Amino acid sequence: MYITSSILVLAASSLAAAAGNHSQAWWKEGIVYQVYPSSFKESRSNDSIGWGDIKGITSKLDHIHDLGADIVWLSPFYDSPLQDMGYDISDYKSVNDIFGGSLEDIKEFISEVHRRGMRCLFDLVINHTSDKHQWFETSASSKNSSLRDRYFWREPKILPNGTQAPPNNWLGSNGGSAWHFDNRTGEYYLGLFNDFQPDLNWDNATNRQAIFNDALNFWLDFGIDGFRMDAFSIFSKPAGLPDVPANDTGLHDARPLYNDGPHEHEYLREMTRECLAGRDTFTVGEYGMSDNMTSVQEYIGASRKEVNSIFLTNMCDIGRDGYKPTAWNLTGWRDAINFTQAAGSRTVGGSVYLENHDLPRSISRFGDDSPEYRVQSGKALAMLLSTLSGTLFLYQGQEIGMINVPSNWTINDYQDANSISYYDGVVKDGGNVTEALHNLTRLSRDNARTPFNWDRSGSFSSNTTSWTPAANLDINLADQINDSDSVYSFWAEMIRLRKSHKDVFVYGEFEFIDLDSPDFLAYRKKNDASEATVIINLSKNAGKPPVNVAKHSKLLAQTQQNCSSTIYSPFEGRVYHL
Ligand code: NOJ
Repeated sequence: MYITSSILVLAASSLAAAAGNHSQAWWKEGIVYQVYPSSFKESRSNDSIGWGDIKGITSKLDHIHDLGADIVWLSPFYDSPLQDMGYDISDYKSVNDIFGGSLEDIKEFISEVHRRGMRCLFDLVINHTSDKHQWFETSASSKNSSLRDRYFWREPKILPNGTQAPPNNWLGSNGGSAWHFDNRTGEYYLGLFNDFQPDLNWDNATNRQAIFNDALNFWLDFGIDGFRMDAFSIFSKPAGLPDVPANDTGLHDARPLYNDGPHEHEYLREMTRECLAGRDTFTVGEYGMSDNMTSVQEYIGASRKEVNSIFLTNMCDIGRDGYKPTAWNLTGWRDAINFTQAAGSRTVGGSVYLENHDLPRSISRFGDDSPEYRVQSGKALAMLLSTLSGTLFLYQGQEIGMINVPSNWTINDYQDANSISYYDGVVKDGGNVTEALHNLTRLSRDNARTPFNWDRSGSFSSNTTSWTPAANLDINLADQINDSDSVYSFWAEMIRLRKSHKDVFVYGEFEFIDLDSPDFLAYRKKNDASEATVIINLSKNAGKPPVNVAKHSKLLAQTQQNCSSTIYSPFEGRVYHL
C-alpha cells in the first residue's frame, strides 16, 4: 500500500514549492484534546455509577486548558443503546441519561469551554444511526412506511437452489454480510458496521435535510464550533449497490466501491451550504482508506468547501493486521509519515495523531511501555507529534503517558463489542485463545478506554466499580503535574514550543533528512525565514544520530534534561533551531 520513500519525498517537496505562504487559521494552529465521556470524569460521588458524565468533563476543563489545548472534541454523549459506546445514536438532539441526561449540562459545558477561550467539536455520526432510532423503527415497520427510504432495504436474493441470500456480496466490518435480515417485512437492510447500525440513505434529499437539521444545525445553533465526522467518506453509496466483481460466491470487501462514492463531494458541499456556511467552524473527517493522495486532496482545502481537515490513518495502520501485531520498522513508518505530511501540505489541512478511542496506546505500540523506557519513549513520541504538520490531536491520557491494559486481563475485563466478537470468533474456530488475549492487550480498542487516571485512588468514586476496569494507576496526573521531568510536563512544554514557533511547526514544510537509519527519525521543518531540525532516537540502542546539525543551531528542546553528549541515549530526542 505504501509508496516508496524517495517518490514521496519528491512529491512532498514539489507540493511544498507550489504551496507558497499558507493561510492561517485557528484550527490549523489549535491543539485538539479528545474526551471520551464515559471514561473521563464522573461528577456524581455518593451515588456514583462508575461512568463519566458531562458535568464531570466540565469540572476538568482547567486540566485541558492548562495543558495548552485549544479545542475540545467530545466523543458521542447522545441517546444511544451504547452497543458501540455511543457511535450508535438513537436521538441526535439529546444527552444520554448515563451522561447526565440534560441539555443544560451541555450548555454549561459549551459556555465554560468558551469562557476559557477554547472551542468545542462534537462527534457527528451520520453514516448510520442506531437501530433503536425512531427513524429506523418507523422505516422498519412496513414496506409502505413514510421513512422506508431513509435506510437501504432490499429483497433477499434467490439463489439457483431456491434459498434466500443477502442482496449482494458486501462484507461488513464485523466479518459477516453487510446486510441484515429483518422479520418485520422480510427484507434485508444495509448496516456496514454492525446489524445495530443501519446505514442512512443519503440519496434522498429529504433524508439529507433531516440529518442536517437534527445532527448538525441543532448543535451549531447551541454554539459549538464544529464536528469530527465519523466515516465521512462513505455517505454516498454506488447506484444499484452492485456486487463486488468476484469469481466466487463469498463475501468481499466493498470499500473500493463505496468509499469516495459517486455523490460524496456533492453531499459534503451541500452540508457546507446548509449548515456550516457563514459560521466560523472546523470540520475534520475520519477517512478510512488513505493511500490515494488525489482522493485525499479532493476533500480538503478552502476552495473545496467540503471539510477543513482529514484524519489519515497511515501512521497508525502500521504494525498490525486487524488484531494481529505484525513486524514494522522505521522505513515503513517514514513512508507513512511522508504521506500524511505531503497530503496536508498544500492546505495545511492534514492532521497528526497517534491515539484516539479506536486505537491502542501509542507508547505501547510505537515506544516501549516497560518501566525502564516508558517515560522516555512517551516524551520521544510527544516530540514527534508536536513538530509534525497538520492539526494536532491528543487523546485523553496520552498527555500523562497512559499505556495499554495489563497482560493479565481476562476476556471478562474487555467491554468493546469488537474485542469480544474477535475473541468469540477465535474460540469458535478452535484457535489459540492465549494468543487472542495477547493480541487484545496489544491492539484492542479497550486499551484506550480505561478511565482517566486522575490519581492513584482510581478515576471515579472508590465506592463503585467503573464500567471498564481502571488500569496502570501508577501512571496518573497527580504524580506528574508538579514533576518537571514527567511526560505531562514534557507535553505541556512541547505544546508551548509548537505555538511559539508555529511558523515552522504548524506552517513549515516537512522534509526527512535521513531515510535509512533503523533507529532514528531525522527531519527538517522550514519556512522562508527559519528552520528546525528534529532528531529522535526511537530505539533502545544508544547511538550517534545519522545527520549533523548545522553550525550555530540552537537547541530548542530535548527529551533528556541536561544532556550534551553527541551520543543519543535510548528514545532521546532533540529539536534544533536555525
Ligand atoms: C468510527 C468510530 O471512531 C468508531 O468508534 C465506530 O465504531 C465506527 N466509526 C462506527 O461508527
